[in-house]
Formats: sequence, C-alpha cells, structure tokens
Amino acid sequence: MYTGLMHAHSGLAYLLLAALIFAIVYNLIGFMGNKPFTEGNRKIALIGLIATHIQVVIGLVLYFVSPYGLSNFSGGNMKDGAARLLMLEHPLTMIIAAVLITIGYSKAKRLTDSNARYKKILIFFTLGLILILSRIPWSNWL
Ligand code: HEM
Ligand code: HEM
Repeated sequence: MYTGLMHAHSGLAYLLLAALIFAIVYNLIGFMGNKPFTEGNRKIALIGLIATHIQVVIGLVLYFVSPYGLSNFSGGNMKDGAARLLMLEHPLTMIIAAVLITIGYSKAKRLTDSNARYKKILIFFTLGLILILSRIPWSNWL
C-alpha cells in the first residue's frame, strides 16, 4: 500500500501543479482582457481544486504509512532539516495551501461580479501555489 500511495502522490503532484498553473494563467488572461467570468473559468479552477483535495487525502494517508511521516516525528529530528520537511513542514504547509485554494474557489463561486471572482481565484490560487512550491521535497521528487 505504501508504494502505491507514494506513486499516486508523486504522480498527482505533476497534474496538480499543471492544473493550478493553467487555472491561474487562464483566469489571468480573462481578467486582463476584461472578459466576463464564465462557467468555463469556474470549471478550470474546479479542476485545480479537485486535484488539490485528492492530493491532500492521499498525503494524509501517506503520513501514517510512510517511514518519513508520523513515525519519524521526534524532538531529535527537529534539528534535521530533511526529516523535519517531511514529518512537519510539508504536511502543514500543504494543508494551509489547500485551505487557501478552497477559500478562493468557494468565494469565486458565490460572488457575482466578474472582476471580484477573477481576483479571488488569482490571489488565493497564487498564494496556494507559492506555498506548495516552497515545501515540495524537490530532491526526493525529481
Ligand atoms: C480531507 C478531505 C476533504 C475535505 C476536508 C474537503 C473540503 C472541502 C471544502 C471545505 C469544500 C468547499 C465547499 C464550498 O464552499 O463550495 C470542498 C469542495 C469540493 N471538494 Fe473537497 N474536501 C475533501 C476531499 C475531497 C476529495 C477526495 C474530492 C474529490 C474526489 C473533493 C472534491 C471536491 C469538489 C469537487 C468540491 C467543489 C464542489 C463545488 O463545486 O462547490 N474533495 N471540499
Ligand atoms: C496538496 C499538495 C501536496 C503536494 C503538491 C505534495 C507533493 C509531494 C511530493 C512531490 C512528494 C515527493 C514524492 C516523491 O518522493 O516522489 C511528497 C511526499 C510526501 N508527502 Fe506530499 N504533497 C502534498 C500534500 C501532502 C499532505 C497534506 C501530506 C500529509 C498530511 C503529505 C505527506 C507527504 C509525505 C509523508 C511524503 C513523503 C513520503 C515518503 O517519501 O515516504 N503531502 N509530497
């Protein structure tokens, strides 16, 4: 189960980054061009949201089965940057990023003014993406 989850988490990370970047660029083009915010804009953001939610669920399970997750958590390991990244910083930052992305999508869904809807997606998705990029274990992944 551990190996399968690792592959799923590792592979979905590519799709998730692509989906978030695409959603940001697509909505930025609409925003800059003063186009109305359409169902298409919402659905493209929704793809990024779904990928993020699935990734968090897989990550949460992984946290309990991986040797680098909860079982590696100790005071001693706090001094070890590589261990601390996976046992603490990565999970915590990714959950915060997912909350931001969810807030952005939900607010954009409920608002009616196009300009305001674009801004919610652009601001919250970009913040989420920056947090994600800041705490990906790049050296393990690539
Ligand atoms: C830890 C598990 C999860 C939590 C806490 C969670 C939480 C949330 C929250 C708070 C929203 C925003 C609702 C709104 O304001 O409209 C949402 C939306 C959504 N989530 Fe999740 N989610 C989880 C897992 C998943 C998974 C596994 C999937 C996909 C298989 C998923 C798919 C969606 C979709 C499609 C929406 C958007 C619905 C809409 O169009 O408004 N979520 N989720
Ligand atoms: C939502 C955004 C997330 C992204 C983009 C992401 C991405 C990644 C990537 C790229 C890796 C490295 C995979 C590899 O070595 O091939 C990884 C590892 C890991 N992630 Fe995440 N992750 C996310 C969320 C989470 C969450 C919410 C948790 C836990 C609560 C989590 C727990 C882990 C663990 C424990 C590992 C290390 C697994 C191991 O090497 O045994 N991830 N993640």
